[in-house]
Amino acid sequence: MSTHEQGKANSGQEVWRQPRTDGYREAGLASLWACLLAFPFFAVGGGLIYVDWADRQAAIRAEAEAAQAWEHLVAASPEPVVGLETAVRGREVFVTVCAACHGQDGKGIEGLGKNLVESDFVARQTDAQFHAYVIVGRPDAKPMPMPPRAGRPDLTDAQIDDVVTYVRGLQDPRRMPELPAYVVDTTPTADQQAAALEAAGGDAELAAWIASGNKLFHTTCVACHGQGGIGIAGNGKPLIENAFINSLDDEGLLAFIQKGRLPTDPANTTGILMPPKGGNPALSEDDILDIISYLRTLKGNHPVGDGSN
Ligand code: HEC
Ligand code: HEC
Repeated sequence: MSTHEQGKANSGQEVWRQPRTDGYREAGLASLWACLLAFPFFAVGGGLIYVDWADRQAAIRAEAEAAQAWEHLVAASPEPVVGLETAVRGREVFVTVCAACHGQDGKGIEGLGKNLVESDFVARQTDAQFHAYVIVGRPDAKPMPMPPRAGRPDLTDAQIDDVVTYVRGLQDPRRMPELPAYVVDTTPTADQQAAALEAAGGDAELAAWIASGNKLFHTTCVACHGQGGIGIAGNGKPLIENAFINSLDDEGLLAFIQKGRLPTDPANTTGILMPPKGGNPALSEDDILDIISYLRTLKGNHPVGDGSN
């Protein structure tokens, strides 16, 4: 009996009450049933929450793993060393096509191409995927696209295979064979020599400069300005029929090419960097003057020595 009831009993008012223990028992049984009935639903619900959680954990782990792909690659035991001849051919493609944006060492150029050496993206790709990537590029990337076929529609599938192999060696130096020293091929082709002689009106000395400039242009500048300077959308501007070139004398153009044009320069219209010396620090002043002689032979540009430049 509770103190309260005792109080009432003491006051002499005896009231019959139904013993409450039965109510408790019923309520208890009811909740037990409820629990038993509900258990499967809780179990399934909990299971679903667990599956969802496990999925999310797996996704987080996969993402972390992907973000470490290159680190894992160089920590694991290496794949076999790549073939010497393939690597030499691949280097030629890399230096003349990819280096303008990705740097001679493949480690990227601020404002241009990304670091391909320490790239988790590259490390995750199979050779076939990497090959396919070079063909498609990333044309919508901002501020600068990775152009389809690296902006060089003339690149053959075999050359893309070679450059993929070469990048594998850059990515994991344990796989790079001992390569012979790189020699820039500055000898103009027969076609380039013939075109130069014609443009120079038979002046052999001028023709030699133009031919050398043509060769250098198609090694250093072509990746962004295209074959014959026709330009590549989203990369370098066309250098044919070019008012800017026509507005400057050789000294002015030399100074421009040496300095380049930052994306922040008010004169920059593309938002893309024109790198100093076209990204090739090895170019001498004479090399650049040769390139200028060549630029003056392009369609719609004022020829050398016509008094306008
Ligand atoms: C005209 C400049 C240019 C040239 C030439 C060029 N690339 Fe790129 N590339 C880029 C830019 C810019 C990006 C980064 C795009 C972005 O922001 O996602 C890129 C990205 C890449 C990526 C993806 C890297 C990553 O981590 O996401 C690969 C791989 C690549 N380039 C390979 C090559 C190869 C191989 C060549 C030569 C055959 C080449 N590129 C030539 C500009 C260039
Ligand atoms: C990595 C790409 C890249 C390379 C390599 C490159 N350029 Fe450029 N160049 C550009 C871009 C982008 C512009 C346009 C910048 C702007 O918006 O003003 C440009 C602009 C120019 C201009 C000014 C054109 C104008 O109408 O304003 C000249 C001249 C030029 N480049 C010459 C060269 C020469 C010569 C080389 C090789 C020695 C070279 N470039 C290599 C990207 C490149």
